[in-house]
Amino acid sequence: MNKLAMIGAGAMGQAIAKGLVQAGLYKARDICFFARRIEILEGLKHQHGYDFATSLDELINNLEAGSSLMFAVKPQGIDQVLADMPELDPSILLISVLAGTKISKFQKRFPQNPIIRVMPNTPSQIMKGASGIAANSNCSEQNIKTVQAMFDAIGLAVVVEEKDLDVVTGLSGSGPAYVFLMIEAMAEAATKLGLNEEAAQALALQTVYGAASLAKISDKTPGELRVQVTSPNGTTAAGLDSLEKNGLKEIVFRAVAAAKARSEELG
Ligand SMILES: NC(=O)c1ccc[n+]([C@@H]2O[C@H](COP(=O)([O-])OP(=O)(O)OC[C@H]3O[C@@H](n4cnc5c(N)ncnc54)[C@H](OP(=O)(O)O)[C@@H]3O)[C@@H](O)[C@H]2O)c1
Repeated sequence: MNKLAMIGAGAMGQAIAKGLVQAGLYKARDICFFARRIEILEGLKHQHGYDFATSLDELINNLEAGSSLMFAVKPQGIDQVLADMPELDPSILLISVLAGTKISKFQKRFPQNPIIRVMPNTPSQIMKGASGIAANSNCSEQNIKTVQAMFDAIGLAVVVEEKDLDVVTGLSGSGPAYVFLMIEAMAEAATKLGLNEEAAQALALQTVYGAASLAKISDKTPGELRVQVTSPNGTTAAGLDSLEKNGLKEIVFRAVAAAKARSEELG
């Protein structure tokens, strides 16, 4: 693969770089970071061997045709970055992980370039991310495959249309927080029912971790696994019956829909 230039060296930029090197898609020295605090870039070079540029011009002028340029700054900083950027070779693949920032913003500035927008989530930081990726019409199949491989390296990437990235935001983007709330709720319920807090928290967390891990490696769907562990009139049936009667599916639907609506508003 050609080199990768990365604008932004924060949590997400570093997580992606780490995944790409671990997966063998890039050598650390072929990833070149740019951010404003040079001391951070020097630290990353010292610790991980990434290259860095001391200006946007230097970063971009060193990019060969067909390389990739990733934007991993906060959404509120992107206008300044785009304004400061020199012209680009039209073969350079632009990749953005900025939440809520449309492809059209990049396309206005670089109308000829292939552009891919990615919605990753926070578990990407530990290589267990779930990302939706959407491409503009300048992208080739190869461009899309390249970016899917990059985000598969830090979890799982699914190709969608850009209009669907708001649902992806409501599902996998905000989803980790829903699961954290579920863990809290399960632990609090057990504490209220008499279990000590430490045991309740440990068991709630391990239950969600174990169930998700089992569902991930199983050839059965989550629905089939649920049926398999539910004996008629048993304890699990009693718990599930209560969740269903109290409208769990409707509650979850409303949560995903509310996050989707907020994502549309912010976009
Ligand atoms: N963290 C996540 O799990 C997550 C999940 C989904 C999407 N995202 C998206 O990923 C993007 C990055 O998030 P993050 O959590 O990595 O943020 P972060 O930790 O705050 O990092 C932002 C990076 O951008 C650099 N930066 C800011 N302004 C810049 C400029 N004008 N020129 C060059 N570099 C600049 C910052 O360094 P300097 O201040 O030194 O320049 C820093 O290295 C965001 O747009 C966010 O929406 C993140």
